[in-house]
Amino acid sequence: MNAEPPALPGRPGDPLRGRHIVLGVTGSISCYKAIEVTSRLVQAGAIVDVAMTEHAAQFVRPLTFRSLTAREPYLSMWEPYADVGEAHVELARRADAMLIAPATASTLARLANGLADDQVSLTALATTAPLLVAPAMDGQMWENPATQANVEILKARGVQFLGPMQGRLASGRMGLGRLMEPERLVEELRWRLGREHGDLVGRRIVVSAGGTREAIDPVRYVGNRSSGKMGYAVAEAARDRGAEAVIVSTVSLPVPAGVRVVAVESALQMMEAVHRECADADALIMAGAVADYRPADAADQKIKRDKTGDMSIDLLENPDIIATTPIETKRGRLTKISFAAETQDLIANAKAKLTKKGARFVVANDVSATDAGFGVDNNRVTILDDEGGRADLPLMPKYDVGHAILDRVLPLLSPKK
Ligand code: PMT
Repeated sequence: MNAEPPALPGRPGDPLRGRHIVLGVTGSISCYKAIEVTSRLVQAGAIVDVAMTEHAAQFVRPLTFRSLTAREPYLSMWEPYADVGEAHVELARRADAMLIAPATASTLARLANGLADDQVSLTALATTAPLLVAPAMDGQMWENPATQANVEILKARGVQFLGPMQGRLASGRMGLGRLMEPERLVEELRWRLGREHGDLVGRRIVVSAGGTREAIDPVRYVGNRSSGKMGYAVAEAARDRGAEAVIVSTVSLPVPAGVRVVAVESALQMMEAVHRECADADALIMAGAVADYRPADAADQKIKRDKTGDMSIDLLENPDIIATTPIETKRGRLTKISFAAETQDLIANAKAKLTKKGARFVVANDVSATDAGFGVDNNRVTILDDEGGRADLPLMPKYDVGHAILDRVLPLLSPKK
């Protein structure tokens, strides 16, 4: 049996880190994507054991998986694996989750009927860990009533389906049957593991993301440089710790697996959505950049230059979203976290916002930096809390900033109701 690896790669806070994942690989041309899934899981710090069918080995050699995982893949049912007689039983027992990707039509039929005649179906039958399957086949095979009946049986037994996806198939046709992309498969797994083991399970966290757009006319708006990356990263970190994460977003970034996105544009729309979502939430993290002012009168039609010449726009002050969000919720007291984007006097300005906004702490960032702040993947922040504490964090990925924030949010949350 494969031994436990000595050191863990990956990031602290990643639910895949140190988890035992059994990756079942069955015989489809999309087996090549299982290689990337394996690599991503290993890089995330998961302990990956690959169980593969003889058919899968026609597409991809076991050597490839051995090289990526530094562990022996399980292929033959008759091969003795080092010091263990019943490899599938031991694999099944160790698994925190089993992902079969790709899962062929005949694999689904085997699973639905409880057949166990290769390493993948053997292990799937033996495990009590969450079982996720990512089907891959031609569209007509997927739509075949036999396959659909098997899918229904498996869903009723709690098997979780990831895809298949719409798009170009190996046959050259377009249809439903593509294997989900490796990056997304790993994210889906991450979400489900977070939900099982995370320290924020049972919590709902609302995060704002992106800059608001305040309409001047149907074409133009007053906006700012916030890309939404910071807010999405906080929400992903919350999701990975098991929270139900909701993003109130002004941007159209890809929706992270397991996260709910509420689309808004203006500060008034964001306020309405934040108030509504926070009525049943544990924490509000305002990472978005809300316009302090909006045009007093948005024109119904596009303003024409030849009709106006020089012009000025009257601005009205927007309400403060974080300060006006009711603190009492169905879940107890809402923990409010503010951000402060500053170009000068960072600490003094951020401290002033902390008290004004009723937040438990403020995440201050100097947005005049080019390697942090708006639009980039990293941030360098100082966290100032309402008891005078201060933590200067180094430049780090926004996802890691998200975890640093959540580490501090966790002890502030009201007891679970
Ligand atoms: O989105 P990215 O490109 O990833 O960039 C990230 C970021 C720089 C936008 C982010 O890290 C950040 O600093 N967000 C807050 C920006 C901001 O609006 O700061 P502010 O100092 O203007 O506002 C202070 C706080 O009050 C913020 O939490 C803001 O959301 C909130 N606010 C502001 C105005 C208003 N009317 N209502 C509010 O709730």
